[in-house]
Amino acid sequence: MPNLFDPIDLGPLTLTNRIVIPPMCQYSAHGGLATDWHLIHIGSLALSGAALLIMEATAVAEEGRITPDCLGLWRDDQSEALAALVKTVRSHSPIRLGIQLSHAGRKASSHSPRTGGSGPLGSADGWPTIGPSAVPVSERWPVPTPLTADDMDRVVEQFVTAAKRAVDAGFDLIELHGAHGYLLSSFLSPLANQRTDEFGGGYDNRARFPLRVFDAVREAVPSTVALGVRVNGTDWAEGGITPDEACRFAVDLERHGADFIHVSSGGNARGDIPLGPAYQIPPARLIRRHVNIPVIGVGLISSPVLADELVADGSVDLVGVGRGHLHNPHWTWSAAEMLGHHLHVPYQYARARTSSFEPPKSWQHLGRQEVQPTP
Ligand code: FNR
Repeated sequence: MPNLFDPIDLGPLTLTNRIVIPPMCQYSAHGGLATDWHLIHIGSLALSGAALLIMEATAVAEEGRITPDCLGLWRDDQSEALAALVKTVRSHSPIRLGIQLSHAGRKASSHSPRTGGSGPLGSADGWPTIGPSAVPVSERWPVPTPLTADDMDRVVEQFVTAAKRAVDAGFDLIELHGAHGYLLSSFLSPLANQRTDEFGGGYDNRARFPLRVFDAVREAVPSTVALGVRVNGTDWAEGGITPDEACRFAVDLERHGADFIHVSSGGNARGDIPLGPAYQIPPARLIRRHVNIPVIGVGLISSPVLADELVADGSVDLVGVGRGHLHNPHWTWSAAEMLGHHLHVPYQYARARTSSFEPPKSWQHLGRQEVQPTP
């Protein structure tokens, strides 16, 4: 029976434990560029002891940003800013770094929490959005323009170019955002996709565009970089994607070369979400039964004991803990202590050591020979 602190292979990567910090938008970019906030935020979480951190939804195109403050990879200078961040974090932490690539589709052009708003920006500051069909998120939202064949080619190319920039920036892992009602997720959901061409209708048609994006990125990304997708296990709404269809999509992704599946849910419509501890685990568990690649489960798994149980009973292979780490960047330390596992901590924090922390023997032990902290 594996436990939360057992290592696991995720495609080409070997992770030292099963704890993942999932992508969390910071609304702190300037013109899509990473800022000092990202360095402080990621730097802090990089000392968490979690094996993998996936950086926030990062737009592959300017019009694919959720808000004006979102991170982007549609220009080379954005990749350079992220490369500097990756280099700094790497020199002090063995954490594996991933990035989530996203196109917000019909949910783009939203207010940033930085300025206190929510919902669509409106015509003064907003920009036109695209989606599978001319179906808005709700009456409050603008009607997106359905993608033409040329638009699809362009978006595929934007994902590919952004993925290459993510590789250049030095990320170990790329996650495509296929959840929460953003562009790829909206193609899969009958609630947003009402096309009558070969990209709408039955599951095979609705999955065609997301799989096309996946294939193109898979081809562009070297096999040394892990590539996977965050999917919706369910839309939690009548007429939306069901756990059965989510399983078919996960199986297809595995067949197309995905290294992992990250199961989230919702965002295509206002649904009845049974919020509570591990509420997204049932669809994740179902998906895990159908695929042979690691599955990450996430969502209100804030108790280390629960996280450990979900790994031990085979519900999922890895556990995402997002807000738990925002609240306590050393959530993983506390989990190790509670569950009685040893965890290596930076030598600078050695005096914070409790019974569960081993003194750092050497950084080579952590698998990154180039890292030599200055005493
Ligand atoms: C998120 N979440 C999220 N999800 C995603 O796929 N891309 C993103 O960029 C973001 N951004 C984001 C920002 C913030 C501040 C929060 C709190 C959440 C969802 C996140 O990855 C995770 O799935 C949920 O927070 C549920 O996990 P926890 O927080 O209950 O462990």
